[in-house]
Amino acid sequence: MPYYNLLHLTKEPFSTSPDPYFLYPSISHQQALQRLEIAIRLKRGLSLMLGDVGTGKTTLARTLLQRLNQEPGFLSYMIFDPIYDSEFQFVAYLAKLFGIRPSFRSALDYKEAIEKFLFKSCVDKEDIVVLVIDEAQKLSLSSLEILRTLLNYETNEYKLLQLVIIGQMELLPRLKRIKNFSDRISLKYIINPLDINETKGMIKFRLVQAGYNSEEQLFTDKAMDLIYQYSQGYPRRIANLCHNALEQLVIRERLTVEEDMIVEIIGEDQNLELSQ
Ligand SMILES: Nc1ncnc2c1ncn2[C@@H]1O[C@H](COP(=O)(O)OP(=O)(O)OP(=O)(O)O)[C@@H](O)[C@H]1O
Ligand SMILES: [Mg+2]
Repeated sequence: MPYYNLLHLTKEPFSTSPDPYFLYPSISHQQALQRLEIAIRLKRGLSLMLGDVGTGKTTLARTLLQRLNQEPGFLSYMIFDPIYDSEFQFVAYLAKLFGIRPSFRSALDYKEAIEKFLFKSCVDKEDIVVLVIDEAQKLSLSSLEILRTLLNYETNEYKLLQLVIIGQMELLPRLKRIKNFSDRISLKYIINPLDINETKGMIKFRLVQAGYNSEEQLFTDKAMDLIYQYSQGYPRRIANLCHNALEQLVIRERLTVEEDMIVEIIGEDQNLELSQ
């Protein structure tokens, strides 16, 4: 039996996979979603979303796509790991992603076919084509150059491709150096870690989403204060700490996660870090 069943939960509450179902709507996450959606609907072209490691970027990207896919009129695509050896490999990949299949010979052929696809989808059929690229700090200069070309495809009124680029903070100075790319950014949003109340909100939200429906708090307020102090509000760190705490709860057959348990887990965590 999985450990969480012993706590009367139906799902694992603190898994670290980027599941939209567990995304707590903090102010920063909610605003990011709203602003991205607006930019996409207004067909403004390039949006940039940045955040430190483990702040929820991939989860947000999946949530955005999930929302858009619920509506007709959106064609959305996502790239999770944008590493390509050459310009040719990248355009070939994009063509395949968009479902363009004929046998092309050169990067130029592919670019032309992608342009045609965008015109047909966006102008003839009036769909909105959205491409979300996660881990965008891995994009090479030549891939960024291709994306710049795609952003040049436009009508008098709007851009044909709605491109959302998501990456770690190191991406910003890199993009700034490529003037003709950074000039095109219409929305720039940085996802912040959670504050103390949001940290507590996230813990409670994820427990409820996992099926917890008791009046009793599973984590004491002081335990959550400590989780905030140690995690600094970074969602992945919060999820990891809470996961370890619930495991201990089951092993020790206790009912509530209290401060002492978090102190111990943090201690072990720090020891491991030191011995690495
Ligand atoms: N607002 C949130 N509410 C609940 N859980 C969250 C929230 N944001 C992130 N998480 C959780 O934190 C973990 C890490 O999230 P995610 O993988 O999306 O971060 P990331 O920014 O993409 O990380 P990386 O920089 O390593 O790619 C996941 O378990 C995710 O569910
Ligand atoms: Mg990620």
